[in-house]
Amino acid sequence: MIEGWIYDSLKEDIGSYRYNHSIGVMNTSIELAKHYGCSIEKAALAGLLHDCGKLQGEINLLKMADDFDIILDNVMKKNKELIHGPLGEALAKRKYHVIDKDVLNAIRFHTTGRENMSILEKIVYLADVIEPSRNFDGIEKIREMAYEDIDTSILYAIDSTVKFIIQRGNLIHLDTIKARNQLIILKDLE
Ligand SMILES: [Fe+2]
Ligand SMILES: [Fe+2]
Repeated sequence: MIEGWIYDSLKEDIGSYRYNHSIGVMNTSIELAKHYGCSIEKAALAGLLHDCGKLQGEINLLKMADDFDIILDNVMKKNKELIHGPLGEALAKRKYHVIDKDVLNAIRFHTTGRENMSILEKIVYLADVIEPSRNFDGIEKIREMAYEDIDTSILYAIDSTVKFIIQRGNLIHLDTIKARNQLIILKDLE
């Protein structure tokens, strides 16, 4: 059971638009957790809080990360959108009193992905991409695969994200490349 104050506080911090997206991610995470035999409670909590680092208003993300002793790599310093992952982990710990390491990692790595993701990390990563309010070219293919083969579905999701990043001329985080390489290598071994 997630306590009511967590919902209220999250909504105040991230605004109703992102809050509604977070509820979508929570619900999709629960469905995926049921399907893949993962803890429903952990999936719900990680899905709900995954964007808790996306604070509203004029926030100096670099300063805030520094205040929380978060060490940012060069890609994160340049692509500040990525900071809400590690910042979310820090807030989940300090503000929402989350102690479960798997839940914290699912929040931290939901934007970049990484090598050796746990099933919970995969679920939250994917739920963030396919929750009901999301709509982009290629989403149907990702949604169709989500309950068949989570790794292939994530690979499609990463490919779609990487294409988007390249179109915008942004930096690709190394964890994303490593996650993608590993998924392809594992697929080839099957
Ligand atoms: Fe996010
Ligand atoms: Fe999100």
